[in-house]
Amino acid sequence: MRLQAIILTSVLAISGQALAGDAGAGRSAFAAKGCIGCHGAGGVSVVPAYPSLKGQTEAFVKESLTNFRNGKRQNPTMNAMAAGLKDADIENLAAYIGSLR
Ligand code: HEC
Repeated sequence: MRLQAIILTSVLAISGQALAGDAGAGRSAFAAKGCIGCHGAGGVSVVPAYPSLKGQTEAFVKESLTNFRNGKRQNPTMNAMAAGLKDADIENLAAYIGSLR
């Protein structure tokens, strides 16, 4: 019984880590995937046409990217940008952007 509890706790801990985005990987993806070109270094945009992302929550970024990807939120630029993102990319980007304060 106690052993089962320990195993269950470990499994939950591991899967919890896998589900949570990796902000370090998100930071790399933000540059590698070109987000930084429009949304700016550290998520602070210098171009009025592009919104700053700094200050947005992880949940908001995750929802926005998911909706841009599935077309629920329409914007030609962001629909195209999100089309190639995998679930893990979205998790990581959201963790990174959500950490910008
Ligand atoms: C070519 C410029 C461009 C690139 C590159 C770009 N974006 Fe965007 N992004 C925009 C524009 C324009 C909007 C505003 C869309 C709208 O009005 O709905 C936006 C909106 C967003 C939003 C929602 C912000 C809000 O305030 O609602 C998020 C989150 C976002 N982008 C993340 C990203 C990520 C992550 C990447 C890289 C994978 C990326 N963007 C690449 C132009 C860009």
